[in-house]
Amino acid sequence: MLCLAMFTDGIENAPEWTLFLGHFHPALLHLPIGFYTVLAVLEYLDSSKSGPRIGKACEIVLNYTAIVAVIAAVLGILLALPGGYNETLLDRHRWLGSLSAIFAFWLIVLRNWARSKSRNGFSIPYHSALAATLILLVVVGHDGGTLTHGSGYLTKHLPSPIKSLIGMENSDDAEKGPLSVEDADVYQDIIHPIFDQTCIQCHGPDKSKGELRLDSFELAMLGGELGDTIIPGDSEASELIYRLHLEIDDDERMPPEGKPQPTEGQIAILEWWIQAGAVESGLVGELEIPETVRSAMVAHLEGSAEVEEKEEVPEILIPMLTWEEAEAEIVAIEEEPNIDILRVALNSPAVRVKGPFGDSRFNDDALSKLEPIANNIVELEIGFSDVTDEGLAAVANMPNLEKLYLQKTLVTDEGIQHLEGLTRLRYLNLYGTQVTDDALDTLVDLPRLKSLFVWETEISKSAAEDFQEQKLEATGVKGWEEEIEALKAKISDAKILVDTGIETEN
Ligand code: HEC
Repeated sequence: MLCLAMFTDGIENAPEWTLFLGHFHPALLHLPIGFYTVLAVLEYLDSSKSGPRIGKACEIVLNYTAIVAVIAAVLGILLALPGGYNETLLDRHRWLGSLSAIFAFWLIVLRNWARSKSRNGFSIPYHSALAATLILLVVVGHDGGTLTHGSGYLTKHLPSPIKSLIGMENSDDAEKGPLSVEDADVYQDIIHPIFDQTCIQCHGPDKSKGELRLDSFELAMLGGELGDTIIPGDSEASELIYRLHLEIDDDERMPPEGKPQPTEGQIAILEWWIQAGAVESGLVGELEIPETVRSAMVAHLEGSAEVEEKEEVPEILIPMLTWEEAEAEIVAIEEEPNIDILRVALNSPAVRVKGPFGDSRFNDDALSKLEPIANNIVELEIGFSDVTDEGLAAVANMPNLEKLYLQKTLVTDEGIQHLEGLTRLRYLNLYGTQVTDDALDTLVDLPRLKSLFVWETEISKSAAEDFQEQKLEATGVKGWEEEIEALKAKISDAKILVDTGIETEN
């Protein structure tokens, strides 16, 4: 095994069967990890005084661990034969991986020696060697994961507050507002992000498949093993463009089938860029660019901006009082006869507030009493009450509000303006109030609003339809609809009529 690890480094043209076997490495490597873990648990039980006597079972598991560890390591070495991974990391992984298999035999020796002295109980050499092997496995596993998924795979989706807490950079500089296309730098803002999204996982610092790296301008221009990767001024002869235009199931297609693909527009941008000389810098506004490519650039920039925007919304969570704190306040508030406060779920301090109607109708005064628990209110049901525009000022201070029932209240457009900052509001019932079309101008900016009830109000049908349209546009769904229509047209164009003249029965 040591020979394998030493002498197989960077063999070009490895035979096909080695790769075939090598591809089983990612599946099989879980066996030694699992076996080692089981072994540790069994040994722990066996060595504890009151535990069961399972020395024999430990021995069997250890023997099998040795076998599967060797198989996994050999397959790993085969998988790495053609190279294309980060060399230093691969080297370390190959060595530590081989060691973790060799350790199994060492453990067998240590265990036999320990058991020849005493049938059970703790043996410092054996048990500490086992513990060291487990630590080694964590390192090996992590390196292997980095080789296949790229670095930062585990932490990529770590919530950003935690990231900044532990001093990790947030990968996307979200503060940067959307860039206008004229001010965009051709390589930095347009070309590089395309490579970054679709190529760098295989052609970057962690892996450089085909000896090609696309993570900087200089490296991209160096090209890969075939040489003609990017030929400035001749996109047709450039390997990179050739690969992008192959059929999706072609073996040489880039990115390979099943991986995130660039859009047609992005491919057109890359093609134009190489044809125009593959410049390293220059503002889009100062270059001569065909209209189709320019609009593809606009879409590309908007696409990146949209992703950033969507991720921002859930961040604004205003902290609530804990349930204990809230409960103390609620007891005081509920001395008022006309307010009901219910906890929404046992694992959350959020509450639903209901203002009963009837003899003592809920009013502005009652609403203002909710102030101490304002952050905890997610639902407010105060329909059929005497609440007015002025009262709604209190609602403006309920930042976590998701559902608001105002039907048959005295509320008008003026009051609706207080709802402006309720970014989490999903549901709003205004049935039977005096609101007019103007209210919709305020409501259209609420990012989460999904259900709006406005029967028997002054709101016109056409304004309501406009509202719906605007909300839809903000979600980006409109764009999809157009794409779907275009695709439908393509499908019907592609249909072929074959008329055999034979009448079908029925
Ligand atoms: C999932 C991994 C993966 C992704 C993603 C990927 N490639 Fe590759 N690429 C490879 C492999 C493997 C090779 C080497 C085998 C070959 O030549 O087909 C390669 C080779 C290439 C080559 C030929 C090397 C040379 O000599 O120039 C080019 C060009 C290329 N890729 C471009 C791209 C571009 C452009 C993207 C992004 C749009 C991309 N690749 C995305 C895996 C990938």
